Amino acid sequence: MGKKLGFGIIGCGMISKWHAHAIASQKDAVLIGATSASLESAERFAAEYNCKVFPSVEDMLSSEEIDVVCICTPSGLHASMAVMAANAKKHFVVEKPMAITEAQVQDILLACQKNGVKGAVISQLRFSKAVQLVKKAIEDGVLGQLLTGDVSMKYYRSPEYYASAGWRGTWEMDGGGALMNQGIHGIDVLQYLVGPVKMVFGVCKTLTRDIEVEDTASVLLEYQNGAIGTIQGTTSVTPGYPRIITISGTKGTVELTEDTITKWDVEGQEHSALASDKENFASFRNPAGFSLDSHITQIADLIDAIRNDRQPLVDVYEGKKPVDIILAAYRSSQTKMPVFLEQDDAF
Ligand SMILES: NC(=O)c1ccc[n+]([C@@H]2O[C@H](COP(=O)([O-])OP(=O)(O)OC[C@H]3O[C@@H](n4cnc5c(N)ncnc54)[C@H](O)[C@@H]3O)[C@@H](O)[C@H]2O)c1
Repeated sequence: MGKKLGFGIIGCGMISKWHAHAIASQKDAVLIGATSASLESAERFAAEYNCKVFPSVEDMLSSEEIDVVCICTPSGLHASMAVMAANAKKHFVVEKPMAITEAQVQDILLACQKNGVKGAVISQLRFSKAVQLVKKAIEDGVLGQLLTGDVSMKYYRSPEYYASAGWRGTWEMDGGGALMNQGIHGIDVLQYLVGPVKMVFGVCKTLTRDIEVEDTASVLLEYQNGAIGTIQGTTSVTPGYPRIITISGTKGTVELTEDTITKWDVEGQEHSALASDKENFASFRNPAGFSLDSHITQIADLIDAIRNDRQPLVDVYEGKKPVDIILAAYRSSQTKMPVFLEQDDAF
């Protein structure tokens, strides 16, 4: 093997640790350095993960040692960081949501195209064994014609959580709440399993938390394949409950509770094919309650994509899909009208 890919981490808060561990687990990667808005947090991080501190994002991006950056800043900064990285010819991994406005999403797509760099978007739920089993079953027609696809995300985030960083709960930096921040994972998996969404009708409210963005939302969906469905997302339910995805077709129903298949009622199949490959994490109650596994998988996938000049499994076009649905839900809630999504062939 030649030179390992040099990684840099931008933003040294909570999620940056997942990236540092995921990089450390790769044979073909080395963490070169980190940078953050506060020099102190970058220094603490660098000491813990044995890397250097870059005084600024610009310094990191101009370093020849850096091939890939992990963007772990507040969501409202993802697009500007990703565009800067792409213009500096660096590949990137951006945390979810990849961006928080349509214009920002387009800026990222164009910057990747123009500069020929790979962009991966973290969407960790797609990679669980249970989700992959359900995906294959749906693709193989095991459920028949799909009829409904629903996700329930009745989560709990405390007022202290929102107060823990100034950007949380703001339109400018969080870009949304129960849907854009906490719910995006479930929404992404729902559309990944059931298929592209055609129509969105949302009701989004701030019922209990002292934040700008929604803490509670219900969304009606129509999929391009004709199925219909719902998204329920909240961060205000006590004590908070696991995410449940239920998909029904003419031949049966499957249900996923977090990363476990809890229902497999399929015509002609006698017993349940229940699957779980995870410890019982509890991100529905605890913001840090999720495994490292999928960050490891996604960073390994990006390295392979770079080495073999292919698109990452969750590239920027895939990362756009849940953001489109969520922005449509917000627009619909404001206008009290359904929003029809464009078919995803604009690029
Ligand atoms: N994949 C997941 O499940 C998951 C979980 C948590 C957070 N996230 C995402 O990760 C991102 C960060 O969340 P967090 O909880 O780690 O936030 P955090 O507040 O703990 O950390 C954010 C970090 O970004 C730094 N920062 C802010 N402005 C910066 C700038 N201009 N330049 C460089 N650094 C800057 C801050 O100093 C801080 O260190 C968010 O987009 C969030 O949605 C994803």
